[in-house]
Amino acid sequence: MLQVKVAPSILAGDFARMGETVKRLENCGADYIHCDVMDGNFVPTITFGNQMIEHIRPYTTLPLDCHLMVLHPDTRLESFARAGANIVTVHVEECREFTLQTLRIIKNYGMRASAVINPNTPVEQLFDCVEVADMLLLMSVHPGWGGQKFIPATLQKIEALRDFCVRNGRPELDIEVDGGITEENVRDVIAAGANVIVAGSTVFRAADMQATIRRLHGE
Ligand code: DX5
Ligand code: ZN
Repeated sequence: MLQVKVAPSILAGDFARMGETVKRLENCGADYIHCDVMDGNFVPTITFGNQMIEHIRPYTTLPLDCHLMVLHPDTRLESFARAGANIVTVHVEECREFTLQTLRIIKNYGMRASAVINPNTPVEQLFDCVEVADMLLLMSVHPGWGGQKFIPATLQKIEALRDFCVRNGRPELDIEVDGGITEENVRDVIAAGANVIVAGSTVFRAADMQATIRRLHGE
């Protein structure tokens, strides 16, 4: 069984207090800090960019897991590497035939490389990346906003992707799932084969953040 990691998304946090927020998430047992970078073009919302990553960097030793929902992510990789990002995830929908090359560039910068697909993109579009990627991400909501409902068809995609990884020599590859994850559905997500759990609203609305993060580990 792969170790389950929880990556709270700071999208659901208070943007005026991000330093304290990431410190608090670390103290409450988070494994990664999931940073949703949105440019207002790839998705309608604008959140933050490499400067936010640079500013929160001193507040935590946890890996900063940067999910780039931006046009031309390949032009942004150097700035995220300089800012202190540890994991960079790019959308296959935006990189298209350049996804593998983009993953290799991310790795050359010393960061962990990951690719992601939207709910309407077939899971087969990630198969080429299995050999090169350090992690693969499946969106379980349409990107752009927190607080949406988990799309149940994601469970079959997780199973298909884990199965492909097992059959192709990468049984240990991290599979991350992002969107609508709750204390109720997390066990199904883990049972299907995912091991990196992103959660925004569930963590930030929790009465007891530490207990919620513990339960999101499937414990
Ligand atoms: C959506 C983002 C998610 C979002 C998840 O575009 O990629 O990371 O923050 O938020 P919840 O957990 O509230 O669905
Ligand atoms: Zn995300």
